[in-house]
Amino acid sequence: MKLDTAIYVIETDQRIPQHVAIIMDGNGRWASERAMPRHAGHRAGVKSVRAVVERAAEQGVAHLTLFAFSSENWSRPRDEVSSLMKLFLEALQREVTKLHRNNVRLRFIGAREQLQAGLVKKIAEAELKTAANDGLQLFIAVAYGGRWDVVNATKNIVARVQERDLMPEEIDETVLANALQLGGVPDPDLLIRTGGEQRISNFLLWNIAYAELFFSDELWPDFGTAEFDAALHHFSGRQRRYGHTGDQVGAA
Ligand code: IPE
Ligand code: IPE
Ligand code: MG
Repeated sequence: MKLDTAIYVIETDQRIPQHVAIIMDGNGRWASERAMPRHAGHRAGVKSVRAVVERAAEQGVAHLTLFAFSSENWSRPRDEVSSLMKLFLEALQREVTKLHRNNVRLRFIGAREQLQAGLVKKIAEAELKTAANDGLQLFIAVAYGGRWDVVNATKNIVARVQERDLMPEEIDETVLANALQLGGVPDPDLLIRTGGEQRISNFLLWNIAYAELFFSDELWPDFGTAEFDAALHHFSGRQRRYGHTGDQVGAA
């Protein structure tokens, strides 16, 4: 069933999540439904990225993290992987100037050493160019996996222990959280997944411990401003208890 998004008007007193994370799923099915090749769906998805980034900034969302390519997506047919990498490179080239103009800070999370050199260079340039921007903080997860992130963080912590920069007994949740790719960034308040599947697919495992989940049946290329607003509207109505009782939270 599709959500009737037209009815959601954003009220001015609505609670806006500080950090929204999105699993952008359904490009392939969108293309198949039109008898088009899968890469056409990925291309169409770029338009949704643009719309959602703009809308998030307008709504006052501080951090937006988009899942573009998972550790496991390397297992897709070689053609699809290479067309996705080409698309990332093109989109970066095309969009960075505009993002910069709009005061967006762009950062990438994931195993970037697995990406081709040309893309790694463009990513570094985009991050440097937008480093001082204090508007929307936009994170793109490429070659990212939640399990990889925890393993990578663990390696960094072990290295610090070996260098005697950190004592083993000092390792706590804060140390681990800070060693993750999104170290220092507040956890996502809202996680959206498009495309109808209700699973995490190895996205930000640690960080979403208390995220509110919102699953949309829209395929990613069909997900736009109205659907994003609908997700924010739903978030606004959720009571976040963090293990407390409803009464405790209500009284706070
Ligand atoms: C999401 O769309 C984009 C990536 C995973 C790169 P899919 O390509 O997974 O689309 P479906 O799920 O096959 O429709
Ligand atoms: C999750 O989508 C990854 C991204 C959106 C980048 P997938 O399409 O890879 O997830 P599964 O395979 O359906 O779990
Ligand atoms: Mg998919």
